[in-house]
Amino acid sequence: MNNKDSVVLITGAAKRIGASIARALHARGYRIIIHYRHSQTDAQKSINELNQQRPQSAHIIQGDLSNATQAQAIGQQALAIWDRIDVLINNASSFYPTSLDSATEQDWDQLFGSNLKGPFFLTKTLIPALKKQQGCVINLVDIHAEKPLKDHPIYCIAKAGVAMMTKSLAKELAPEIRVNGISPGAILWPEPEPSAEAKGKILSKVPLQKIGESNDIVQTAIFLIEQAPYISGQIIAVDGGRSLGM
Ligand SMILES: NC(=O)c1ccc[n+]([C@@H]2O[C@H](COP(=O)([O-])OP(=O)(O)OC[C@H]3O[C@@H](n4cnc5c(N)ncnc54)[C@H](OP(=O)(O)O)[C@@H]3O)[C@@H](O)[C@H]2O)c1
Repeated sequence: MNNKDSVVLITGAAKRIGASIARALHARGYRIIIHYRHSQTDAQKSINELNQQRPQSAHIIQGDLSNATQAQAIGQQALAIWDRIDVLINNASSFYPTSLDSATEQDWDQLFGSNLKGPFFLTKTLIPALKKQQGCVINLVDIHAEKPLKDHPIYCIAKAGVAMMTKSLAKELAPEIRVNGISPGAILWPEPEPSAEAKGKILSKVPLQKIGESNDIVQTAIFLIEQAPYISGQIIAVDGGRSLGM
C-alpha cells in the first residue's frame, strides 16, 4: 500500500484507542479521516496537530452510527473529502452494562447500532471505493464476543455479530477487499474506571499479568493493513492470553 496517498477512515477516533491508531497511521504517511459522535473538541484538536505536521492530511466527520442513514452519510462524507478510501477501521462502540432486569429496547438499539448496524451500513457504502483500492476493513471486536461478560448481554451479543460480520464480509468482498478483526482484551479501562477490586479480578485472569496498551492494538492494525496480503476473515485476540481461560 502506498502510504503517501492512501486514505484511512477510523470511526470513534477522537479519543483512546481510535485516536492512537489515527496518530500512528498518520505518522506512517497515511491521510486520515477521524470520525466522531460527541467528542468534537478532541477530534478537532487531533486533526489540528496532524495538519500542522503535514498540511491537508487529516479531516474530521461527525455522525451517529446507531442510525443506518447516518452511517451511510458518514461514508458519503468521507468519500467527498478525497474521493478515495483505502482502509476502514470500525472502531466506534458504545459499551455499558445492561442487566436483564433493566435492559430496554433503547439499549438494544444503541449497543447494536453503534457496534454492528452502523459499521455494517458504513462498510456497505464504502464497498465500491474499497474495491477500487484493493483495500481492507478492520473491525474492533472484543474477546467477550466469545465468552460473555457478566451483566453485558446486549453488548456481547452485538460484538458476537461483529465477529460474524468480519467473517461473512471477508467472504462476500473477496478477492478485492480483505476484512479482518482485532479482539482486544483489557487494554484501556472503560470510563468511569472500575474499582481496584474489579481491576484486580480482571488482571488475575490475564496470563501476562498486566493490561495492554493502545499500542498493542495499533501494531496489530498496522500488521493487518501492511503485512497481511494473504489474511482475510481472521480475528486476532490481543489480550495477554486472557482468552485461554484461567
Ligand atoms: N478499551 C478496551 O480495553 C477494549 C476492550 C475490548 C474491546 N474494545 C473495543 O475496541 C474499540 C476501541 O475501544 P475504546 O475503549 O477506545 O472505545 P471507546 O472509548 O469506548 O469508544 C470509542 C468511541 O466510540 C464512539 N461511539 C460510541 N457510540 C457511538 C455511536 N452511536 N455513533 C458513533 N460513535 C459512537 C464514541 O465517540 P464520541 O466520543 O465522539 O461520542 C467513543 O469515543 C471498541 O470497538 C471497543 O469495543 C476495547
